[in-house]
Amino acid sequence: MTKTDLSGRTALVTGGAQGLGEGMARALAAAGARVVVADLQEDLAASVAGSLGEGHGSVHLDVTEEPSWEAAVGTTVSEYGGLDILVNNAGIEITSLITEVEPKDIRAMLDVNILGTALGLKHGLRAMRPEGPAGKGGSIINISSVAATIAFPGIPVYSATKSAVDRLTRVAAMEAGKLGYGVRVNCIYPGLVPTAMGAGLANDMAELGLFASVEEAIGAVVGLTPSGRLGEVSDMADVVVFLASDASRFVNGAGLPVDGGMGM
Ligand SMILES: NC(=O)c1ccc[n+]([C@@H]2O[C@H](COP(=O)([O-])OP(=O)(O)OC[C@H]3O[C@@H](n4cnc5c(N)ncnc54)[C@H](O)[C@@H]3O)[C@@H](O)[C@H]2O)c1
Repeated sequence: MTKTDLSGRTALVTGGAQGLGEGMARALAAAGARVVVADLQEDLAASVAGSLGEGHGSVHLDVTEEPSWEAAVGTTVSEYGGLDILVNNAGIEITSLITEVEPKDIRAMLDVNILGTALGLKHGLRAMRPEGPAGKGGSIINISSVAATIAFPGIPVYSATKSAVDRLTRVAAMEAGKLGYGVRVNCIYPGLVPTAMGAGLANDMAELGLFASVEEAIGAVVGLTPSGRLGEVSDMADVVVFLASDASRFVNGAGLPVDGGMGM
C-alpha cells in the first residue's frame, strides 16, 4: 500500500460536477477513496458519480445554505461510510474592473467563495472531529487561487474572496490542531486552467479591453509562468490527492501554489 492509497476513506468534493472539481473527484476515486460528488447541478453530479463506478455517489449541495450542508454531510456519513476528506472547491468568478463592480456580483462571490468555504469548514470539522458522527479526523483541502497571491486586473473582488479562503484555511488549521480534532486543513492556489471558469475569464479580460484579444490574455498568463504553459485539471487533482493522503501527513495550515510558478 502506498502513502497515497486512499482505500477505506470517504471524500466529499464540492463543485464536483465539472471542471477542476470533477477532475479532483476522479483522481480521489482512482486513488481508492469512495467519492461523493456535491453540486448545485444535480444531474451532472450524478452522471460524474455514476461514471466513477460502484460505491460512489452524489448529493445536492448549495454551499451557501447551511441546511444544505447539514443534509449533504449527513448523507455522506450515513450512506457512504463516513467523512475523511473534504474538498471545498465550489466557487464562482464574475469579472469586473473595480470601478464597475456591481454590489449583487460582490455579494454573489462573497456568498459562494467565502461563506460557502466557511460553512464547509464548519460542517466538515464538526463531522470529522472525535465526537462527530464520522469521528476519525481527516484532511480538508480548500481551493483558493493564484489570484490570492498576485494582482491580476479584472478580478479584484474574486481575488479578495480567494485571499479570504487562504486566511480561513490557516485559522481553521490552527483551531483544529489546538482542539485535537485530528484534521489537517490546507489550501491550494491553482493557476489558470481553461475550464468553463478559466476560459471565461480569458474572454472577459479581452472584452474589458485589458488585453487586445483572448490569445493575448492567455499569452500574458503563460508569459508570467516559468513552467511556460497553462494549468491542466490533472495538475490540480494530483496535488489534492497528495494533500488528502498520508504522504502529506505533516503538511498543515499550508497554502500550496499549483501554478507553474506564476505567483512567485
Ligand atoms: N479554472 C481556473 O483557472 C481556476 C484557477 C484558480 C482557482 N480556481 C478555483 O477552482 C474552483 C473550481 O473552478 P472551475 O474552474 O472548475 O469552475 P467551474 O465554473 O468550471 O465549476 C465550478 C463548479 O462549482 C459549482 N458551484 C457553483 N456554485 C455552487 C454552489 N453555490 N454550491 C455548490 N456548487 C456550486 C458549479 O455548479 C460547478 O460545477 C473554484 O473555486 C475556482 O475559483 C479555478
